Amino acid sequence: MDAAGDHVERNRSVWNRRAADYVEAGERNWAAAEPSWGRWSVPEAQLHVLPDALDGLDCIELGCGTAYVSAWLARRGARPVGIDVSEVQLATASRLQGEHGLSFPLLHGNAEQVPLADASFDLAISEYGASIWCDPHRWIPEASRLLRPGGRLIFLVNGVIAMLCEPDDETVQPSERMLRPYFGMHRFEWPEDESVEFHLPHGELIALLRANDLTVDELIEVRPPEGSTTRYPTPTLEWARQWPCEEIWKARKGG
Ligand SMILES: C[S@@+](CC[C@H](N)C(=O)[O-])C[C@H]1O[C@@H](n2cnc3c(N)ncnc32)[C@H](O)[C@@H]1O
Repeated sequence: MDAAGDHVERNRSVWNRRAADYVEAGERNWAAAEPSWGRWSVPEAQLHVLPDALDGLDCIELGCGTAYVSAWLARRGARPVGIDVSEVQLATASRLQGEHGLSFPLLHGNAEQVPLADASFDLAISEYGASIWCDPHRWIPEASRLLRPGGRLIFLVNGVIAMLCEPDDETVQPSERMLRPYFGMHRFEWPEDESVEFHLPHGELIALLRANDLTVDELIEVRPPEGSTTRYPTPTLEWARQWPCEEIWKARKGG
């Protein structure tokens, strides 16, 4: 196990294997004119995830995968940098940069230890990247270190209620009852592979953000519109219309 914990190497190897399954979604999202978020692809116009003005902002995407979020930021005038631990995901990102004629730095590394200077970004963002695959006690301090005063942190994660109702077998639909304790939730491992995820109770997450000089501006509990579709097998739309399966957190440094 390295100093950062075994999850980094375990998740690198899982994501190198899963990368092929994310190529098509990456291609579709790179080609999309408007951003959309999460497993239900809820449009930006409905959720208002991104700041109105992105022009000239230095942005870092933590766990960028195929880097379509960075592409959306670049097209709105921002200067993104993507970092990801999976070299196979980054190979797709790099190919899509070439195909779309859009170039920005892609770093291969652990988002818990980014090799860039303090206070060099105005926005740190993560959609199911560092936000769930890195230990929050490591990646949130790192995001704060990278942000300038007044800089923003935006991240999308699985909803806490969904994590409490998710069976160990991820292919089985979430329950309508809680299956595991809320208190003490942190590290999640699944029987189907060696991946490791992290999810904190809301109070602990807010306290961790505040301890790192980050104040919560907004928590968007994503409710997919009627008729939404997804390529993911779980949860059903009926479940996701009743409970938030995804959360988008917005915080501000030194706020
Ligand atoms: C679901 S993808 C999210 C990226 C993008 N939004 C997408 O959906 O394709 C998760 C990404 O997190 C990356 N990741 C996992 N652990 C990481 C770490 N410690 N540092 C940087 N990236 C990491 C994985 O390699 C993977 O590309």
